[in-house]
Amino acid sequence: MDIVETLPQLRARLDAWRAQGESVALVPTMGNLHAGHFALVEQARAACDRVVASVFVNPTQFGPGEDFERYPRTPQEDAEGLAAHGCSLMYLPGVGTLYPFGPDRSHRLSVPALADVLCGAHRPGHFDGVVTVVSRLFNHVQPDVAVFGEKDFQQLRILERMAEDLGYPVRILRGATVREEDGLAMSSRNRYLDNSQRGQATAIRRTLLLAHEAWTAGQPLAAIEEEGVSRLREAGFTVDYLEIRRESDLARPAAGERDGLRIFAAAKLGTTRLIDNLALGFE
Ligand code: PAJ
Repeated sequence: MDIVETLPQLRARLDAWRAQGESVALVPTMGNLHAGHFALVEQARAACDRVVASVFVNPTQFGPGEDFERYPRTPQEDAEGLAAHGCSLMYLPGVGTLYPFGPDRSHRLSVPALADVLCGAHRPGHFDGVVTVVSRLFNHVQPDVAVFGEKDFQQLRILERMAEDLGYPVRILRGATVREEDGLAMSSRNRYLDNSQRGQATAIRRTLLLAHEAWTAGQPLAAIEEEGVSRLREAGFTVDYLEIRRESDLARPAAGERDGLRIFAAAKLGTTRLIDNLALGFE
């Protein structure tokens, strides 16, 4: 596996592959890679001849006081993991490569829909930063396929919408959430948890599964959500939200609506913010 840091180096590799008629998949990441990321790489490999994984901690998607500075950066281990999972090229751009005029003086995209609810309501500007960097990555790599995880379902829907809206000729694939044995969704942020918080963290998955049971039994949505929030609070979380929403437009379901729904949660243990979600009726 090659590692490149600049756009000309990247383009040279891509041109060589394209000259042989090879298809290219992109897996964008912020690094500190785990089995969830590697599953996306494998999915990408199954869909295309070549896989590019980008590793870039994107400053424009972090708010003031968030964890941009301390976000774990482990490029050496990331490179080893990517190579072991069939990645062809690791793209490790510097800030000046993705933002030639600097992050504060660059063109920005703003997300016109889907971003004012759930995580968007709690992290103002976050999804604007995500679409801003992913559109740049799409322009740099011009992938045939891009893979994003359902762990960040709102992000995935926003990026699917962005690709359609801006006319990117890319097919977006969804990767299932990869979990630890006790059900905790894998996340680079899990490493912020101390031992006792790591134990508490399993309550998110348990709470979503109980909510799923209550939904299957036909309980009203408001009661399911209230119950879920209390459970998370009892487990020691500060809850941002626990809500049932439509997968398609992330709106609240109409009365009696049962198809295509998902339950979403975001909650903090200390300063560590964890998110998870679960499709209703399928898992
Ligand atoms: P990051 O958090 O590194 O995640 C990179 C990709 O891995 C995302 O598509 C995310 O949904 C997926 N992912 C993370 N944990 C996962 C898990 N447990 N199972 C399956 N997939 C998982 O998301 C970002 O980076 C950034 O916002 C990015 C899209 C790269 C833009 O900067």
